[in-house]
Amino acid sequence: MTHAPVLKVENLQTRFKSVQRGKYVHAVDDVSIELYPGEIVGLVGESGCGKSTLGRTIVGLEKATSGRVLLDGVDLSSLSGAALRRSRRALQYVFQDPYSSLNDRQTVGETIDEALLIDGTYSLDERSRRTKELLDQVGLANAVKDRHTRELSGGQRQRVAIARSLAVNPRVLICDEPVSALDLSIRAQVMNLFLRLQKDLGVACLFIAHDLALVRQAASRVYVMYLGKIVEHGPSQQLYDRPSHPYTQMLLASVPEVDPRVEKLRSGPLLMGEIPSPINPPSGCRFRTRCPLAVDECAGKAPPSHRLSPDHNAACVFAPELYGGKRSALVQQSALAASV
Ligand SMILES: Nc1ncnc2c1ncn2[C@@H]1O[C@H](COP(=O)(O)OP(=O)(O)OP(=O)(O)O)[C@@H](O)[C@H]1O
Ligand SMILES: [Mg+2]
Repeated sequence: MTHAPVLKVENLQTRFKSVQRGKYVHAVDDVSIELYPGEIVGLVGESGCGKSTLGRTIVGLEKATSGRVLLDGVDLSSLSGAALRRSRRALQYVFQDPYSSLNDRQTVGETIDEALLIDGTYSLDERSRRTKELLDQVGLANAVKDRHTRELSGGQRQRVAIARSLAVNPRVLICDEPVSALDLSIRAQVMNLFLRLQKDLGVACLFIAHDLALVRQAASRVYVMYLGKIVEHGPSQQLYDRPSHPYTQMLLASVPEVDPRVEKLRSGPLLMGEIPSPINPPSGCRFRTRCPLAVDECAGKAPPSHRLSPDHNAACVFAPELYGGKRSALVQQSALAASV
């Protein structure tokens, strides 16, 4: 890609104080990601791997322990006052649960108006016109503005939450499992809405999900996260066709998949056991305690990041072989051997 990223995250680390004295939760550890203007990028991984913490740190809801977040090349930690507030507005967060993210006592109009007021410069007429425009953009009729948010369905509420995020003309939306709390029947509609927004408004979107199948439809590229680290990233189709980290292979196999192209992977080894505690993560490769291919050297040092194609990287000693399709059968056999 020749143009510059709108969002660049460099070596981001977020640690929380643990309830165990003197210990820390290593929720996000040395993560670097990039988003280009108007791009939808997936971020996937099991529950507890640090996806939300990464998203929340990017928008400033959590404080980074180290690392940098750059918006249009500007390091947010170098800003303060109005400049920082302006940049923060350009990064908006869409929460998973549209029931808790909206104020039940407000009408839809008030909810959106509040965001427009934060942006500062609109007259009453302009706000009313902009509210209509925003509701239209998210596929809601203008008449909805007089209803209380508590009267709306989950899908409608999520649309209102998205309209509120768009009110301040963001450059980047961090969408934290924005459809997983919705009925199956309306998930596709809201997903289509994200695709349309990306096309019409050019907003870049980091789309967080457990479900690889869901992200695959929408995202041009995907980052796979495991226990605070990005273990593999690449163009969606390549990642699905040639997953090159054992974790990605097993994650793909664990997700119900109707696509026959990944059917053979689906019949592969499922992810066994639970993600280890981020308080004492395993040394070396963090996935080694669940990896059917793990060898002694995986415990020693962090795995090398292999560049498999210009935009496809995987952090595993076996990545080149997996990429070449040589190890897939071995991952399956090793996992089978371990399970008997
Ligand atoms: N405020 C906090 N204080 C301490 N630990 C936290 C805090 N927030 C998150 N964690 C821990 O950090 C780790 C990552 O949590 P996070 O919510 O980012 O995961 P996630 O990938 O979003 O999971 P899920 O898919 O379930 O939403 C977890 O072990 C979690 O318990
Ligand atoms: Mg989460």
